[in-house]
Amino acid sequence: METKLLKPNKESIELACKLLQDGEVVGVPTETVYGLAGDSRNGEAIKKIFKAKGRPADNPLIVHISNLDMLKGVVRYVSDDAKKLMEAFWPGPLTIIMPKGNEICNETCAGLDSVGVRMPSNPIAHEIIEKSKVPFSAPSANISGKPSPTNATDVFVDMNGRIPLIIDGGECDAGVESTVISTLTDTPIILRPGVITKEMIENVLGKKVEIAKAVTEGVKKDEKVLSPGMKYKHYAPNADVIILKGSLEKYAKYVNEHKADGTFALCFDDEQQYLDVPAISYGHITSPKEQAHELFTALRELDKQNAKIVYARCPEMTGVSLAVYNRLIRSAGFKIIDLD
Ligand code: TXA
Ligand code: MG
Repeated sequence: METKLLKPNKESIELACKLLQDGEVVGVPTETVYGLAGDSRNGEAIKKIFKAKGRPADNPLIVHISNLDMLKGVVRYVSDDAKKLMEAFWPGPLTIIMPKGNEICNETCAGLDSVGVRMPSNPIAHEIIEKSKVPFSAPSANISGKPSPTNATDVFVDMNGRIPLIIDGGECDAGVESTVISTLTDTPIILRPGVITKEMIENVLGKKVEIAKAVTEGVKKDEKVLSPGMKYKHYAPNADVIILKGSLEKYAKYVNEHKADGTFALCFDDEQQYLDVPAISYGHITSPKEQAHELFTALRELDKQNAKIVYARCPEMTGVSLAVYNRLIRSAGFKIIDLD
């Protein structure tokens, strides 16, 4: 199949809407990462998404809506907590897990009785949903297991020949996927951290929320998880990534002593000068937002440069950095060396 890569304009948006209405899959920009969109009510459309990504069928998708009226049929009910979160953070990068409504097909939720819903703030995603009137399910637009795409070229690299259309909306703002929170329990649980942080959510709800253990730790084989996405290898470049925890001084010493063919450093900005190996940076040490914005691009760049072993600087585990840490430990397959 030919994959068109088009800038957003009246014709291309109309084409995207028509394809969605016809049960096809379209690559669309959002404020987090690019998504592979298909009609959430149409099982055949959703199967095409799973096929294009090579995604395990037991990993559910997030439903994207453009206004609150669309919630009818998407969810069975909206709890007080969920309502407060929508008022505070929608449109924006927060996915809320709620009881599944009867219009959403089982393929979207991978058979679960709950559904993740978000209202994207990206104007192109918003316009496509609003004009097509299609609530769309959209996982990140990468081949399963690879880093999520934050620009249209990266989507094209993974999806060329697999989907009919990608809308090029430029670089994504956040660079990491939405925060996912379950409101199915009295104490809400963050299943995936993002740029909307635990502290921001607790402020709005006026109570404590939990962070699922799997956010910072590996999941054991056959362990039961709250969110199926936690189980899978993720965000991984071809290279072997190892995280080094400790000061810049200790990091540089370790990397320089372990220099070999194909060794790369994944460091923070301005640290290259201390390293004897090729280095790619992912934002400034003091800017978690920059790190979130640049991490996936940096991981993809390592593949382009044929890196074999990558020693990565370790982000903090608080605020927005927790989202960066969560993605990086998965791309490293949980390999961390503590230098302190
Ligand atoms: O920012 C985002 O959320 C992007 C853009 C495209 O909107 N989408 C995205 O989708 O990251 P995906 O499929 O790559 O990640 C969805 C995550 C998975 O970890 C999945 O397991 C979890 O959300 N999830 C979805 N529905 C769920 C449910 N009903 N219960 C628990 N976890 C769920
Ligand atoms: Mg994904």
